[in-house]
Amino acid sequence: MCGIVGYIGHREAYPIVIKGLKRLEYRGYDSAGVMVYDGTSVKLSKTKGKVSDLEAKAKEITTTGTIGIGHTRWATHGVPNDVNSHPHVSNSGDLVIIHNGIIENYEPLKKELIKRGYKFHSDTDTEVLVNLIEEVQKKENLKLGKAVQVALNQVVGAYAICVFDKKKPDEIVAARLGSPLAIGVGKDEFFVASDASPFIEYTSNAIYLEDEEMAVVRLNKPLKIRKIKDDSLVDPYVQELQMNLEQIEKGGYDHFMLKEIYEQPSVIKDTYRGRLHANEGLIQMAGVEDNLEKFLNADRILIVACGTSWHAGLVAEYIFEEFTRIPVEVEYASEFRYRNPIINPGDVVIPISQSGETADTLAAIKLAKEKGAFVFGVCNVVGSSISRETHAGAYTHAGPEIGVASTKAFTTQITVLTMIALRLAKAKGTLSNSDFHRYLQELEIIPEKVQEALETNDVTKTIAAKFKDSTNCLYLGRGYNFPVALEGALKLKEISYIHAEGYPAAEMKHGPIALIDEHMPVIVIAPKQGHYDKVVSNIQEIKSRSGKIIAVVTKGDTQVRELADYVIEIPDTSDALSPLLTTIPLQLLSYHIAVMRGCNVDQPRNLAKSVTVE
Ligand code: F6R
Repeated sequence: MCGIVGYIGHREAYPIVIKGLKRLEYRGYDSAGVMVYDGTSVKLSKTKGKVSDLEAKAKEITTTGTIGIGHTRWATHGVPNDVNSHPHVSNSGDLVIIHNGIIENYEPLKKELIKRGYKFHSDTDTEVLVNLIEEVQKKENLKLGKAVQVALNQVVGAYAICVFDKKKPDEIVAARLGSPLAIGVGKDEFFVASDASPFIEYTSNAIYLEDEEMAVVRLNKPLKIRKIKDDSLVDPYVQELQMNLEQIEKGGYDHFMLKEIYEQPSVIKDTYRGRLHANEGLIQMAGVEDNLEKFLNADRILIVACGTSWHAGLVAEYIFEEFTRIPVEVEYASEFRYRNPIINPGDVVIPISQSGETADTLAAIKLAKEKGAFVFGVCNVVGSSISRETHAGAYTHAGPEIGVASTKAFTTQITVLTMIALRLAKAKGTLSNSDFHRYLQELEIIPEKVQEALETNDVTKTIAAKFKDSTNCLYLGRGYNFPVALEGALKLKEISYIHAEGYPAAEMKHGPIALIDEHMPVIVIAPKQGHYDKVVSNIQEIKSRSGKIIAVVTKGDTQVRELADYVIEIPDTSDALSPLLTTIPLQLLSYHIAVMRGCNVDQPRNLAKSVTVE
C-alpha cells in the first residue's frame, strides 16, 4: 500500500511524478505529496486527499526541476492529514524521504532520537526513519547511500523508500524490504516506482529490486545495487516490460472497474491461450508439467489467499476435489500464518494473488516453505514478490487490474485453477475421458458465454435503480456458486458501502432467515445445473417471508421466474464452470448500484489495491 515515484534525469520531474502518482493511486489515496529540487532548493507540497488535491495545492510552489519524488498514501501510522503526508523531511532539512511500508520498531528508535535532541512533527514511523538516517549520517560522517544502509540494518518492518539529500543533489537512494520497487532505466534518466506504470511511456527496461536490496540512482553514472545486509554488489537484472500504455488507461469507459469487467472475455482467452488445446484433448502448463509428480503425490492441497482471491480458492476447492479427488483446504492467509498450521512435506500449497504483493499471503508462503511444502503460485503480476517467492507457478494473464475491486482477476484465477485441476485429473484418471474432453470444449467457448453474460448490463442497471437505497442485502448460492455468493456480497459492500452477506443457501434457515422481510433484497444464484431444485426450495422459503428475490438463472428458466421478483439470465454451462458466468451480473449489479449512490467505484473509501501490510 502507498505508491511511490521518483525521477532523476533531463526532463521536468513534476509532471512525471504527478502522472505516476495518479497511476499508483490504486495503492492508497488518503494523502499525497511531492518534492522537486530545482538545482538550488527543495520545494515541497503535500496534502490530505487525492493527487488531484495535491495538484491544486502544488500551485503554491514552483515546480521546476529535474529531480523529484512523490507519494500517495494509505495511512498506517497517524491519521490522514497534511502533516502525516509524505514526503517527510529530516530535522536539518537536508534529507527528504518517501516510504511505503511499516517500521515496526519506530517507537524505541523515536525515543532514542528524542533523547538526542530530535523533534518530531508527525505521528509517522517514516519521520523516524528519515531522522535515523540523518543521525547515522552525522554521527559516522557517511555518504547518503551508506547512511541509509546502516540505518536500515537497525529497523524492523517493511519498506520501499526513496531518499534525497540536498547536499548531494545528483542522486536518489532507493531500497526495499517487503514492499515492491521497480527502477526504470532510460537514456540518461532513471525512474523509481512501486510498479512500472509511472514510467511505461519512457522506457521498457526495468529492474525490480529484490528484498533487502538498495540502489544508488545517480545521474550519468551506472546503477549500483547492493545487499543491505552485507554491502555486496548485485548484478542488475534488466527486464523488458510486458505492459503497454493502453492497458493502464480507461479506454473510453467511465471507470476502470467497468473496463475490467468488460475485458473478461478476452483476458480469460489470454489466460488459456497456448495452454488449453481442446481439439487435441490437451492442457499444457509448463509449471504444472515440470512438477507433475509433486501434484500427483500430494497428500492434500492447501490454498491460501485473501479477499476475492480467497473466493477463487473456494471455487477451486470444489473443482479440485471433484475432478482430482485430492483433498483440498482453503485458508485465509492471515489466519494460516499465525495459527501454527500442520503442513507436511507432502503438501502442495497454492497461494492465489492478483497483486503478488499481499503481505499475509507472502508470509503464508514463507511459512509453508519453511515446513517443507511445495508452493505453487497463481498470480497476475509478473515479477511480483509472490511470483518470486514460490517454487513454481502459473500466471493469470488478466493484465493490469487498476480498479480496487477485483473482477477480471477472479475469473482468470478460476480459469487457471480449472486448467490445473483438469490436467491433474487427466494424469490421475479421475475424470472420464468424455467428461475431460467436454470440460475442455466448454472452457474453450466460455469467453463467448461471458460476452453474452455481459449483455445483462441493462437489466442489472434497472435492478440496481430499484435497490440502490437498500441498507442490507443477502447473497445465496450452493455448491460451486456458494463462493460466488460470497464474492457478490464482497463486491457490493466494498464499492457501494451497503452491508451485504453471502451464505450457502441452505444455511438460511440456521439463522439469517430471521433477517428477511419485505425490505430485504436477496440475490439468489440459481443456474439450471447444480443443486437447482434445492435452491428453488430456498427461494420459496424467502418468498414466503416476503423477501425481494433477484435470481441469476440459466437462459430459458421458467420455474424460478415465477417465484422471483427479478431474473437475470445467463447462458447455460456445466456446474463446475458456472461461476465464470454467474459472477458477471453480480459484478455489474454492484458497479451500477455504487455509481447510482455516487460512490468512488475505482477507489472505494479506506481500501487500497495492494495490501502490503498485515
Ligand atoms: C476485493 C479485493 C481484495 C483482494 C485481496 C487480495 O475486490 O480486491 O479482497 O482480492 O486484497 O489481493 P491479492 O489478490 O492481490 O492478493
